[in-house]
Amino acid sequence: MSTRTDTLIAPAVVDEAPDLYMGLIAAARAIAAQIVETDAIGLTGSAAYIHRASVDLIRVAPADAGGDDVSGMAVGECLRRLGAVWPEIAAGTMKGEQIFSSEPTLWSRLMTEWPMGDYAKLAARVMIDNHLLDGQAIELGAGVGSCSTLVADQVGDGYVRTDLRPALLKRQRIRGSVSRYDFNQPAPWRDVDTVFAVNALHCAADRHATLGYVRDMLRPGGMLVLGESAPYTDAHGTPWALNGLFGLFTGWWDIGGAVSREGWLSALRSAGFRSVGWTVRRAGTHDLGGLIWAQR
Ligand SMILES: C[S@@+](CC[C@H](N)C(=O)[O-])C[C@H]1O[C@@H](n2cnc3c(N)ncnc32)[C@H](O)[C@@H]1O
Repeated sequence: MSTRTDTLIAPAVVDEAPDLYMGLIAAARAIAAQIVETDAIGLTGSAAYIHRASVDLIRVAPADAGGDDVSGMAVGECLRRLGAVWPEIAAGTMKGEQIFSSEPTLWSRLMTEWPMGDYAKLAARVMIDNHLLDGQAIELGAGVGSCSTLVADQVGDGYVRTDLRPALLKRQRIRGSVSRYDFNQPAPWRDVDTVFAVNALHCAADRHATLGYVRDMLRPGGMLVLGESAPYTDAHGTPWALNGLFGLFTGWWDIGGAVSREGWLSALRSAGFRSVGWTVRRAGTHDLGGLIWAQR
């Protein structure tokens, strides 16, 4: 096990009411039950991943998980969409990205509301509390800006929001600048104070290489902060409830999805980071991932 250091002022654990997450497991399980009715033989790519993820969830999650009703939330609507498009995904006649291309607002709500938006809230809170945004800060995979908007009042002119597809970022009026940057490549920035990424770095094709590029960006003592979910959330091996939903997207199913905390910590260490730390997001007995930080 890794040792958590006190480099940052941050809670070790943030507890949230378990009923909402239990409700999310129940909703995801109901869709998974529908998906596993399809024969797995012949499924490829995203469809094969989603089918496997559904089998995985059904194996451990009880049919009567109970919890709060999430059907009125963005995440509930997205799960319902997954169920509706599954026949076309399985047949290979539709790509997951198409579901949201006609409905950018739903995608934006998925990323900014519970549960995804809470990774951004936690990251923003810890970075603000620790004055990590006072100098030059680079955000990777800023996307719909779930974290960018929360830190907007605290950043300086040196703040750079980056993404593979920066068009969306340019629509948000936030101090600093926007740049197209692919984190699978070395970065042009050096001596940066803080690099952060919320629900983005798991998309890296080669995690070790990307963490090396991030290290090269930072000044000695500079900090990397990641907000990320977890592949399995409890001792029974219950998969992250949204593994199947995110299996619709390139950058998830083709890379392997969420990375365990230990996986991140060992990759950070081998990339030459020191003083690693984390905050656990916990819902009852479920560890939803949370924050991970590391200092150069
Ligand atoms: C799941 S979204 C998260 C977006 C945002 N951080 C949030 O929390 O709402 C992942 C983002 O990472 C970006 N991304 C994926 N692969 C990338 C890469 N190789 N380089 C830069 N950005 C990438 C995607 O374009 C997308 O905007």
